[in-house]
Amino acid sequence: MKDQIEKLHQKALASLAEAGSLKELEELRVRFLGKKGELTAILRGLSQLPAEERPKIGELANQVRDSISKTISEKSEELKEEILARELEKEKVDITLPGRPFPVGSRHPLNQVLDRIKEIFIGMGYAVAEGPEIETDYYNFEALNVPADHPARDMQDTFYLPGGYLLRTQTSPVQVRTMEKQEPPVRIIAPGAVYRCDADITHSPMFHQVEGLYVDENVTFADLKGTLEHFLHQLFGKNRQVRFRPSFFPFTEPSAEVDIACLMCGGSGCRVCKNTGWLEILGSGMVHPKVLEKVNYDPQKVGGFAFGMGVERIAMLLYGIDDIRLFFENDLRFLRQF
Ligand code: PHE
Repeated sequence: MKDQIEKLHQKALASLAEAGSLKELEELRVRFLGKKGELTAILRGLSQLPAEERPKIGELANQVRDSISKTISEKSEELKEEILARELEKEKVDITLPGRPFPVGSRHPLNQVLDRIKEIFIGMGYAVAEGPEIETDYYNFEALNVPADHPARDMQDTFYLPGGYLLRTQTSPVQVRTMEKQEPPVRIIAPGAVYRCDADITHSPMFHQVEGLYVDENVTFADLKGTLEHFLHQLFGKNRQVRFRPSFFPFTEPSAEVDIACLMCGGSGCRVCKNTGWLEILGSGMVHPKVLEKVNYDPQKVGGFAFGMGVERIAMLLYGIDDIRLFFENDLRFLRQF
């Protein structure tokens, strides 16, 4: 029996040395040390031995059991470490690899120009106001002194919507909405999208305007001229010549269009300025008394000026872009240049 136990010991140690996984290890433990295992099977013969031999064999059996158990737990530690090492190897991050590039966009050229325009007027104490793009006939025309049969309606090709609504053709309705809510002094610019049924290389059915309004006591045409000249010098450079030309808008009287010396030829005449030497930039004028009355301001006490400009037009002139559609096509080759 001693022989049998020693053979079992050797066999067990040899098998354990070979074990390649925790599962195999457990199977070997059951096979050698389990209740129905080989050692138990051998010890079943213990009762047939002479009484004096039993303790010796029992002691040997215990030693063998301890030895096998110890080997199993050592082997198990070893295997666990191997598994962990393998796992770590798999999850290893190569911190020397270059990161994935994160493409950084840039601000749209129209936003860049708009930001610049806002910055200049905010610097003169103007606040930024906004209004809806879907307007009523009242705010877009009526309150701006353009009644239903007024020929000035032909100046703006309006998109009409069902229910008496329309897409605003100008940001001027924001003037009216602001004055309705606020007593003078009012000093705002209103940037935003406007819509006109017109499309070619210099006209888009949707484009952007910045409207300006200043109403207070004692505001004169000189204030209008000074403000707009300062603005244009900030935007186009202080040596850029500016001129005011009489014009007509139903909501201002008197009205003026404002030109700057052509950015391409400097005034000598070219294709861009149609040989006039001048580029039209702004519409402006003193707010019509009828517009003030509509919002319950007293034209005897307060007055002011208003102006409006197209953001696309200014961006085209500043950057030398000859097709307005480029702003809305989102072609990265175009946008990356800004
Ligand atoms: N709203 C006018 C336009 O779209 C521009 C303008 C605004 C003119 C304010 C005078 C005063 O043509």
